[in-house]
Formats: sequence, C-alpha cells, structure tokens
Amino acid sequence: MAQNMSKSKPDLSTLSPQTKLVAAGRDYGEHGFVNPAVYHGSTVLFPTAKSLHDRSQTYVYGRRGTPTSRAVEEAVALVEGGHNAKMLPSGMAAISTALLAFLKSGDHLLMVDTVYFPARQFCDGLLKGLGIETTYYDPMIGRGIASLIRPNTRVVYCETPGSQTMEVQDMPSIAQAAHQAGAIVMVDNTWGAGHFFKAFEHGADVSVQAATKYLVGHSDAMMGTVTCNAATWEQFKDAYESMGQFAGPDDMYLTLRGIHTLDVRLERHMKNAIAVAEWLRSRDEVETVLYPALSNAPGHDIWKRDFKGASGLFSVVLKPCADDAVDSFLDRLALFGMGYSWGGFESLCIPFKPLRTATAWTAPGPCLRFHIGLESPDDLITDLTDGFKGLQSA
Ligand SMILES: Cc1ncc(COP(=O)(O)O)c(C=O)c1O
Repeated sequence: MAQNMSKSKPDLSTLSPQTKLVAAGRDYGEHGFVNPAVYHGSTVLFPTAKSLHDRSQTYVYGRRGTPTSRAVEEAVALVEGGHNAKMLPSGMAAISTALLAFLKSGDHLLMVDTVYFPARQFCDGLLKGLGIETTYYDPMIGRGIASLIRPNTRVVYCETPGSQTMEVQDMPSIAQAAHQAGAIVMVDNTWGAGHFFKAFEHGADVSVQAATKYLVGHSDAMMGTVTCNAATWEQFKDAYESMGQFAGPDDMYLTLRGIHTLDVRLERHMKNAIAVAEWLRSRDEVETVLYPALSNAPGHDIWKRDFKGASGLFSVVLKPCADDAVDSFLDRLALFGMGYSWGGFESLCIPFKPLRTATAWTAPGPCLRFHIGLESPDDLITDLTDGFKGLQSA
C-alpha cells in the first residue's frame, strides 16, 4: 500500500457495498494522496538488462497496465463482485470485445431481443460475416431459453432490464439452462451499474457495462468495462490483449472517481425516478410507464427478487397521438435535454420506436425514454406539466 505503510488495510471482501465503493481502488495513491496519479505513459524503463530479460517489474509497457488502470480495474471488479476486470474505450468496445473473445466461426449466439441497438448491428454485421449465427430471443423467456440452445451455442447474452422497453430478465433461470448446455452467460449490466444488480450472484460469467453511464456519472467521458468470473478471465484477457484494447488514462481516472460516489448518486436517481414515474403514471396522456420499480412493469417481480434498487432510466408509452404533438411536448421541455445517452447528473427525454424480431411490439402509442437526473423532482414535474400543455395544444 503506497499511501501509508503504517495503517492497517481493510478486508474489502467483508465490507458493505457502500463502503466498498469508497475503498475501491485505493491502494494506488502515492505520497499520502487519497487518489492515484493519472499515469500518461507508453514507455516504461527497465533499470537493468536482467530486469528487462526476466520482465520482473510490475509495469512493462503502457498498454499492459499502469497504476491508474490497475486501480480502476480493481475497483470495477470489486463493485461487480467478479474475479477481475478490464477497461475499454467505450461500452460498445466492451460488448464487441467480450463477444469476440468467446465466439468463433461456426458458433451460435443467443441474443436478447431488447439488446442495445448497435450491439444488434454488430451481431447482424461483423459477427455474421465471421460465420457466427445469432438468434434473438424474447427477454421474458426465462427457463424457455433451453429450447433455443443448440449444440454449438457458446454464449447466451442478456441485458437486464432491456434497452428502451425495460423488461427485467430471469437471469438465474437463463443461466441454469445455459450452463447445463455448456454455454456462458454474458450480461449488459449498465442499468444496475454492478451496484443495484450483482450479476455474478445471478449466474453471469461475464458482465459488461457502458461505464459511460453511471460509473462515470457526469456525461464527460466514454468508457466500457468487462468483468469476468475466474473461469472466463484468462480467455477474455488474452483476447483483450490480442486486440490491443486499453483506455485513455484521464477517462479511466474519471471512472474511478465516479465509482466512489455511485451509491449516493444511484439512490438519488432512484428516489427522483420513482417520484416522476408515479406522477407520469397518473397522467391521462400516458398509457403505461415501463419502470422495473413499478408494479405493472414487465419483470417487476424478478426485479424485486434480484435487484437492490432501480436507477434513473425508464420509458413511457403515450396514448396514441400525432407525431407533432410529441415534438411539441419535447420542444416545451426546458430541464429535460434531448440526447442519446443517460447515467449523468442531468435529466433527458428522447423518443424511440421499439425494434423487435423475436417478439412483436404492439402498443400503438409513441414511446419516450426518460433519464431522471439529480434535479428536484418537483422542478422536473413542473417542466413535464409544461410539456404536456404543448402536447395538448398541438
Ligand atoms: C445499455 C447500453 N449498453 C451499451 C451502450 C454503449 O455504450 P457506449 O456509448 O459507451 O459505447 C449503451 C449506450 O447508450 C447502452 O445504453
């Protein structure tokens, strides 16, 4: 421990989740500083020819790891409850690298129908071109996944809750069927951020996150994480290194900084999101609110069983109305920005059209995705009230 050799070190494995977030990655501070330095480095010098030949020093080359990357990797693995983790330059890089690490030509992938759309494009494009076949499955399939598993199915991929329409998946049932057939289970754990959903306790072998969202938490950096259990770690690490993956030092540092405040941010996102979602549910213009914490949401019972909280992202299906009514709702909003991300401190609202191939999306009304930030929910509700005036007058 570089920061203070005389102090005893806490046993991280015994700490509560909140304390883990504060203690995570703290072994790398030097000269008494609480935080690690941001190492901008490629070349690492070896003091003697012997140390060069036997590569006996901890750091050998920038891409192979720095004190900054080690600190954040340890922190992510601790938050997720996995064996070890690696950082990548975006969430999408994490998804594609994780899939390529475990799939080869002739293999079959079972992919959830509600997957983040660019991941679907990756499967239908690059993976298909490599001779890897993808079958999309109903997010609510649960144990029924067994009937879709083939002898060459290597990966069953979940995203829980699903992008946009927020279905919470029965991961333990899916994992049991996958493991029985010798496939591994991968999950996009961005919504629960590893803090509200402990993927490894629910059967995941590999957990990926767009750390761009809640881990970074301030809309100021792109980052991806892949966390593995012990059984999958070496295979993933080999692929990660072969593909030359690494992430920028400042962005890794911002991710570590975000992790230390994750609990308080997520708790507030949840409190605000519940207040806004319940208010939206009471509005005449709203058909349904798709938020795992609300009792009518798909997979709400599974959420209650498996999750420790709900983050700030949910969706709303409006009663049928004209496109320009939705546009005037959006244009009237002053506090809710329109942008294709989430997980930062600010509130967002964006329209979307669900895309399905394994199941049908039948709701006739327009859909909106909300990210509820750290503003006062009263102010957000006032803003939405104004938006609905725009919708009614269009
Ligand atoms: C659920 C989910 N996974 C992955 C990603 C991709 O992350 P990034 O934008 O960092 O590549 C996103 C981005 O919106 C996402 O919403």
